[in-house]
Amino acid sequence: MLKKITFAAVGLALAATAVFAESPHDGAIAARKAHMVLYGHNLGILGGMAQGKIDYSADAASAAAANLAALTKMSQGSYWPPGSDAESVKGTRALGALWQNFPDVIAKSGDMVAAAGAMEAAAGGGLDSLRGGMRALGGACNACHKAYRQPE
Ligand code: HEC
Repeated sequence: MLKKITFAAVGLALAATAVFAESPHDGAIAARKAHMVLYGHNLGILGGMAQGKIDYSADAASAAAANLAALTKMSQGSYWPPGSDAESVKGTRALGALWQNFPDVIAKSGDMVAAAGAMEAAAGGGLDSLRGGMRALGGACNACHKAYRQPE
């Protein structure tokens, strides 16, 4: 019995090593994708209201915009280690160009932070107010994806 457990443990340890051998950056890649998914979920609520697909609610719009604004302020320093680009490892669509153009990436991130801050102020002020913030916010997401995310 004890032997069996030990073998199972060794098996698990080997399996874990194999996963890490795949890429030392798997954790960082999973974290940045998860962060992006949270962006997408909250932006989807705002966009759905702007397009009339979701009934406008000042409370729900404000909550989504506040989440998004808070997310844009979190440090992503550990998410983007050098060598974790799509040309070097599997499981990511981040182009190597991102690591070669940091000033531009930071500028594009800054545009998103500003647009998310403006949306946080606008979202609860009525549907027209929310719609007014959508173009800059959606545009800020798209600008970075166009430049630094591999097309599907
Ligand atoms: C500074 C650049 C940048 C900005 C700004 C940005 N993204 Fe991204 N996004 C990326 C990159 C690069 C990827 C690919 C990440 C990967 O595959 O490792 C990505 C991936 C995604 C994904 C796919 C995640 C997955 O599971 O593969 C979604 C959804 C997403 N972004 C939504 C957004 C939304 C919504 C915004 C705006 C609120 C936004 N992003 C702003 C660079 C950016």
